[in-house]
Amino acid sequence: MRLALMAATALAAGLMTNATASRAAEELNLICSADVVICEMMQQMFQKETGIQVNMVRLSSGETYAKIRAEARNPKTDIWWAGTGDPHLQAAAEGLTQEYKSPLLGELNDWAKKQAEASGFRTVGVYAGALGWGYNTDRFKQKNYKEPKCWADLLDPSFKGEIQMANPNSSGTAYTALATLVQIMGEDKAYDYLKKLNANISQYTKSGSAPVKAAGRGETAIGIVFMHDAVAVAVEGFPVKSVAPCEGTGYEIGSMSIVKGARNLENAKKWYDWALKADVQSHMKEAKSFQLPSNSKAEVPKESPKFSDIKLIDYDFAKYGDPNTRKTLLERWDKEIGANAN
Ligand code: G6P
Repeated sequence: MRLALMAATALAAGLMTNATASRAAEELNLICSADVVICEMMQQMFQKETGIQVNMVRLSSGETYAKIRAEARNPKTDIWWAGTGDPHLQAAAEGLTQEYKSPLLGELNDWAKKQAEASGFRTVGVYAGALGWGYNTDRFKQKNYKEPKCWADLLDPSFKGEIQMANPNSSGTAYTALATLVQIMGEDKAYDYLKKLNANISQYTKSGSAPVKAAGRGETAIGIVFMHDAVAVAVEGFPVKSVAPCEGTGYEIGSMSIVKGARNLENAKKWYDWALKADVQSHMKEAKSFQLPSNSKAEVPKESPKFSDIKLIDYDFAKYGDPNTRKTLLERWDKEIGANAN
């Protein structure tokens, strides 16, 4: 009797250990660098479809890059979904992420495939979007401001304290802005421009889309952001208009990477293949995520700013996705702009 009880207890304990072990295996640690609404939607959809528990943290692109670097010896993250492509390329160049060739690569648009090839398949494009700004039309009417159509117009002294953008150390959006201006103007002129622009900036936010959300609420007149983020705020009913800069502008190839040494590698690959699927990407508009999807069969939302309507520069991803370029540009930004921020 006693023996039987002991055996039963041992069996139950064994079963529990197995159950705990299998539950622990069905996990995925994800950092999401897109907007929190789409991050949560993707998390829920994936959990429902696969039963895999997704532990998700939302961090800006530059913050994620720094975290993955800091944790390189003992990775706590399995997969990094979304955020601008430059820091994904920088992480790839430093060997922080690992090679993976998804069977879905063949379904992707060329720009997304090129991102994978350029990184030795350590990252891949999940969406694309062009940089610009959004402004609050009510505030513009009230204050009698003139619509800024060009980068040069943002220097108008009437916009003193009326513009927000993110900090390029934490935000991929702001890094894209910095790299874009350097490509349009040349490095010295771009920093001169940013010094002048600094006089009009009230705040450098941590996250890339925060400035246009503030513009929507009327807390600032202008937010320098990806155009699709300005569109999202307008679709929510705020008086915001988006602008594609007249001199030309840069763009992001939002990307995805598996962290080297990921503890839940098989689940990370499952997410990777799933997130590249056309039907998954077609759902993104439900979270007001209006980027251009990387799967060529995914639906392009009617609200998405189209690249054919925007004067795009030939953004040099190899150069600006290089860790040394990042270091040089950000050090100079910290010294000449960040140190003198309002
Ligand atoms: C927003 C945009 C994304 C972009 C991301 C970058 O969420 O919708 O397209 O990739 O910002 O975020 P970050 O905070 O790094 O600028």
